[in-house]
Amino acid sequence: MRKTYVMGNWKMNGSRAANATLLSGLKAGVPALRAGVEIAVCPPFVYLEATAAALAGSPIGVGAQDVSEYDKGAYTGEVSVAMLKDVGATYAIIGHSERRSLYGETDAWVTQKTVAALAGGMLPVVCIGELESEREGGLTEKVLARQLDAVLAAIPNPVPGGIVIAYEPVWAIGTGKTATPEMAQETHAFIRNHLKKGGEAFAAQTAVLYGGSVKASNAEGLFSMPDIDGGLVGGASLTADEFVGIYNGAVAAFGRR
Ligand code: 13P
Repeated sequence: MRKTYVMGNWKMNGSRAANATLLSGLKAGVPALRAGVEIAVCPPFVYLEATAAALAGSPIGVGAQDVSEYDKGAYTGEVSVAMLKDVGATYAIIGHSERRSLYGETDAWVTQKTVAALAGGMLPVVCIGELESEREGGLTEKVLARQLDAVLAAIPNPVPGGIVIAYEPVWAIGTGKTATPEMAQETHAFIRNHLKKGGEAFAAQTAVLYGGSVKASNAEGLFSMPDIDGGLVGGASLTADEFVGIYNGAVAAFGRR
């Protein structure tokens, strides 16, 4: 059976004091994994080591929000896979729409980062998603296929350690405009089918998360869909009660699988 995940992408939010409060709330709210649902937080780079230390002994994992495609050297401002692992991160979000749209990350670049993460033994969470104008223009499947194909063509098959895909429709990020569970499922089914390019087993085993205004009140409905394997959560991951509520929604939904 595929793994299921609830991951929090803190984006550029937090402080040592705020993180300590949030993490102690999460540890209290999620003392153990239930229904096999993995949970992780992805703080800004500077807080990774302290976050991993605060979560030591808890079931909550730690991921980074980005990673360099290079191993080491003269790449000012960049952080390598080995460095992330060194401070306790086991996941890396790659190709988030904010990195693509604000920092010019291309499909090719996202692919290089994904290859580097896999080579270094880190689980990549590769983000894909269409803009509102692309959805309105009937281009959703074309855009998602292009974003997926770039990565699928470059990664080893079978993929050691696996890969996670996060579908985040850009129009639903931070807008409160969540895709309905049915709308999200339709797109997830397309993604699942497209993943068959890597073989039936690869498509069946690869977790496809949904992201975009996920909150405690809509989590269980989204996660009850057959091809939605969890969530990548932005704003609602900054509040312990909300994020724990999303985890509980995931446990309820995936406990029925
Ligand atoms: P929101 O949950 O704030 O809409 O953000 C989603 C996201 O971009 C997670 O990576």
